[in-house]
Amino acid sequence: MSTGAPRVLPADSGIAEAASVLRTGGLVAFPTETVYGLGANALDARAAARIFEAKARPSFDPLITHLADTAELEKLVGPLPPAVAALAERFWPGPLTLIVDRPAAVPPIVTSGLDTMAVRVPDHEHARALIAAAGVPVAAPSANRFGQLSPTRAEHVVRGLGAAVDVVLDGGPTRCGIESTIVDARGERPVVLRLGALPVEALEEAAGPVTVRPGSSGQPVAPGTLAAHYAPRTLLRLVSGAEPAAAGGGRRGFLAFRDRPAGTWAAVEVLSPAGDLTEAAARLFEALHELDGTGVDEIVVEPVPEVGVGRAINDRLRRAAATWRPAT
Ligand code: TXA
Ligand code: MG
Repeated sequence: MSTGAPRVLPADSGIAEAASVLRTGGLVAFPTETVYGLGANALDARAAARIFEAKARPSFDPLITHLADTAELEKLVGPLPPAVAALAERFWPGPLTLIVDRPAAVPPIVTSGLDTMAVRVPDHEHARALIAAAGVPVAAPSANRFGQLSPTRAEHVVRGLGAAVDVVLDGGPTRCGIESTIVDARGERPVVLRLGALPVEALEEAAGPVTVRPGSSGQPVAPGTLAAHYAPRTLLRLVSGAEPAAAGGGRRGFLAFRDRPAGTWAAVEVLSPAGDLTEAAARLFEALHELDGTGVDEIVVEPVPEVGVGRAINDRLRRAAATWRPAT
C-alpha cells in the first residue's frame, strides 16, 4: 500500500493537466460511465507497466484500451471486421468492450502478450475529452487494487491506490456503477466474455443470439472473470431470500435489492427501493464499499433478478462471495 495522496483535480478543469501527465508517462485515474479507470499511455510500455505495479495486478491480466472515438481506433488498427464495426456503431460511446487484433504500435505488455486487444469508447464527456487531449490511446483497468472492489467515486480511488496514482480526476459518482460488457464479435456468433453494464438482451436485439461464456478461473481470457474477484475485505455471503439474523454473536451487515430485511442487522444497504436494476447496478460497489467500512464481521447479500444488468450484478456478487469462508 502506498502512502501519501495523489493530486485530485476536478474532471472538467483538470483535463489539460491530466492529459500532460498521461503524455509524460504518468498514471491518471479518471471517471467513465462504468467505473473509474486507472489510465496510462497505451503506446508506452513503461507507463503501462506502472499500472500493473500500482494495482498489484498479475501480468497475465490484459488491460482495456480506451479511445476517444471509433475513427481513432481505425487509425490505430485499420478497418474493423464488419460484425465488430456494427456493434461499435450501435453501442459506442458506451459500456461495451470489443476484441480486435493488437496493432504493432501497442506494446505486448498492454495485452499481456495476447495478439488481441480489448478496446472501448467510454460514454463519458470528461473521459473522452481527456483521451482526445492526451492524443494517445489510454490503457485503463478499473482503478482499484487487484481483486478488490471497483471504484465508483474518486474517494474510492484515493483510498485504494493512494500516491501510486499521480492524478485523480474527480467527476463524481459513475452512472452505471458496473464494468463494461466484454464481447468478442470476430467469429460466427458474438461471445460475451464478461457480463457487464450493457445487458445481454440489448446485444441480442442488435446482433442476434450470443454465447455467454461461463466464467473461467483457469488461464483467464478475461481475468475480470476470475472466480474470486471484486471482493470487499469483509467476508461476504450470498443467500437466497432474506434470512433471519442469527441469534447472538457477530455483527452482520445486509445488502438488499429492494426491501429492507427483517431481523436485526448492524448495517443495511438497499440497492434500489424502487426495484430498478439500473439503479441497483449504479449503487452496487458503493454499497459494498459502505458496508465494508462499517466494521461488520460479515456481509450477507441477496441476489437480484437474473435479467438485464441484473445478470452482471449477480455475477459480481458470486465472485465477491467466492472468497467467503464460514468461521470454523
Ligand atoms: O468498464 C470497464 O471496462 C472499466 C473501465 C475503466 O473502462 N475497465 C475495466 O478494466 O473493467 P479491468 O482491467 O478491471 O477489466 C478488464 C478486463 C479484464 O478481465 C481483462 O482480462 C479483459 O478485460 N481483457 C483485456 N484484454 C483482453 C483480451 N485481449 N481478450 C479478452 N479479455 C481481455
Ligand atoms: Mg477490474
